[in-house]
Amino acid sequence: MKAIIYDKESKEEKLILKEVLKPLPSENEILVKVHAASVNAADYRSMQMGIIPKHKIFGADVAGTIEAIGKNVMNFSVGDEVVGDLSGHGFGGFAQYVIANESAWVLKPKSISFDMAASVPMSSVTALQALRKGNVKPGQKVLICGGGGGVGTFAVQLAKHFNAEVTVVCGIKNVNIMQQLNADHIINYNTDSFLKKDDRFDLILAINGNYLLSDYKKALKSQGMVVIVGGSLSQLLKSLSFGKLLFLGSKKLHTLSAKPSTADLQTILQLVEQKKVTPVIDRCYPLNQTAEAVNYLKQGHAQGKVVINIDQAESLPKVL
Ligand SMILES: NC(=O)c1ccc[n+]([C@@H]2O[C@H](COP(=O)([O-])OP(=O)(O)OC[C@H]3O[C@@H](n4cnc5c(N)ncnc54)[C@H](OP(=O)(O)O)[C@@H]3O)[C@@H](O)[C@H]2O)c1
Repeated sequence: MKAIIYDKESKEEKLILKEVLKPLPSENEILVKVHAASVNAADYRSMQMGIIPKHKIFGADVAGTIEAIGKNVMNFSVGDEVVGDLSGHGFGGFAQYVIANESAWVLKPKSISFDMAASVPMSSVTALQALRKGNVKPGQKVLICGGGGGVGTFAVQLAKHFNAEVTVVCGIKNVNIMQQLNADHIINYNTDSFLKKDDRFDLILAINGNYLLSDYKKALKSQGMVVIVGGSLSQLLKSLSFGKLLFLGSKKLHTLSAKPSTADLQTILQLVEQKKVTPVIDRCYPLNQTAEAVNYLKQGHAQGKVVINIDQAESLPKVL
């Protein structure tokens, strides 16, 4: 099969299209023919930290069709269309085939395309878990810093689904998307700042950007909470080192470590099927352009999700 192999010794591009052996499922595993995968910060951050999957193939978010199952697999059959977050199962999605334990997968609703399904798992589950951690309630004021990316576009829609009043911070080019996603108030960070407003929030999701923790604290209501999801490394480090100390009073800070959850993934797929949530896809790349896709996401200005369409690999030239 064709796969994008991470070659850490390579002096130039480290993500290289190669021909490798198609994997075989063990008794609890499922072999999936991958149709689409999406790129996450987890892919390039793992590369930067030197955390390389066993088979050197990145790609956590996968949607595809089951080609074979191990003898103990109970809940799936050959031909089922599935989707999963394989970050806890060795990654492997940037390839024509991947194997992972049965527990990684859920059935893909037929009405959702493979590209769309692959864009859902990690970002949407992170957004859902962040809102849940913040105990979001109808009518509450929620500030979402960094609404334009993979996690942000799901967070805005989910917060609206929970009937919160959503204020989103984004750059000029994301203003239209935020309007389409029904954000109640939009703060363009190129010309404005939530720090200049008198508004106070019940919940702040810090998804992207780099603000002082004390700025978030100032913008919270007295019992409010900020959930640090991502953003600059310095913001993350500050929240882990000084967060608890700075937020000793009634205002709370939580640093999120989202966990893959098939239950949460199913909840969101259902919302997508019911058209209550729509994955926003910025671009689709073919498998041989995975390096370009990862580099694009790494620049930090994707609008929604970046997808690798693996089916286009069928027409690729023969490789080493
Ligand atoms: N805690 C966890 O468990 C967990 C799980 C998943 C992801 N994460 C983290 O969450 C973060 C977001 O992930 P993602 O997949 O959504 O990333 P992403 O898709 O790369 O985010 C790109 C978006 O961020 C926006 N952005 C960049 N700088 C901004 C700023 N200063 N203010 C407001 N928006 C800004 C960009 O909008 P503009 O072009 O308008 O700037 C762009 O739309 C990453 O840091 C990731 O590592 C954490």
